[in-house]
Amino acid sequence: MAIADRHGLPVIEDAAQAHGARCQGRRVGQFGQIACFSFYPSKNLGAYGEGGALITNDASIAQRARSLRDHAQSEKYLHGEIGYNYRMDSFQGAVLAIKLKHLDEWNTARIDCARHYTESLKDSSYKLPADISDSECVWHCYVIETPQRDRVRAALQDVGIQSAVHYPVPVHLQQAYADLDYQSGDLPVTEALCKHCLSLPIYPELSKEKISRVASVLLDLENR
Ligand SMILES: Cc1ncc(COP(=O)(O)O)c(C=O)c1O
Repeated sequence: MAIADRHGLPVIEDAAQAHGARCQGRRVGQFGQIACFSFYPSKNLGAYGEGGALITNDASIAQRARSLRDHAQSEKYLHGEIGYNYRMDSFQGAVLAIKLKHLDEWNTARIDCARHYTESLKDSSYKLPADISDSECVWHCYVIETPQRDRVRAALQDVGIQSAVHYPVPVHLQQAYADLDYQSGDLPVTEALCKHCLSLPIYPELSKEKISRVASVLLDLENR
């Protein structure tokens, strides 16, 4: 925000994985002009299909967003500009309204899961997610880093434990952005993370026993 203030830039918060998270004591979504939340089914607050929301304190942005989501109709069958069909099903709204009541409790369970992973793996060579003291992460993912990522992933898969890679190909090397002309090696930190990161299973109902089992597979592998 300090950088944006200095240069007069608007800030859009990508809070797609951060429903309920806190930064310096404040819930995310309060920092920028707009914050975006994803309700993709796997998210901390997920619909039963597609959904998402933007929040803002700026009345003119709110009004424009409401208009654009409905083909920019100013009144029925009148369109002042070209908009989109971004209307969320009311069914998804109903599901989200019910699930929202459980969000804090589910986030607390995720925080407990993350704590248990960290405790179980703290003496290992795996690089664990940083603990940021003045923030509260809601652990949409628990991502470790290891140069042995593919080997670790295969070992987990061998005993029936799924893991995921968020994400294997960075944005600047996607075919979709080829016209920007980035080459492999241009963003070395990003590219190393894409090769080394591994998301371990995490969801509110995940038991301590299962987390210990994942950790023991990882620790065994270190000693081989
Ligand atoms: C950080 C982040 N931003 C944006 C998105 C996009 O959200 P959606 O799929 O609802 O458009 C995602 C979804 O995976 C995400 O994780």
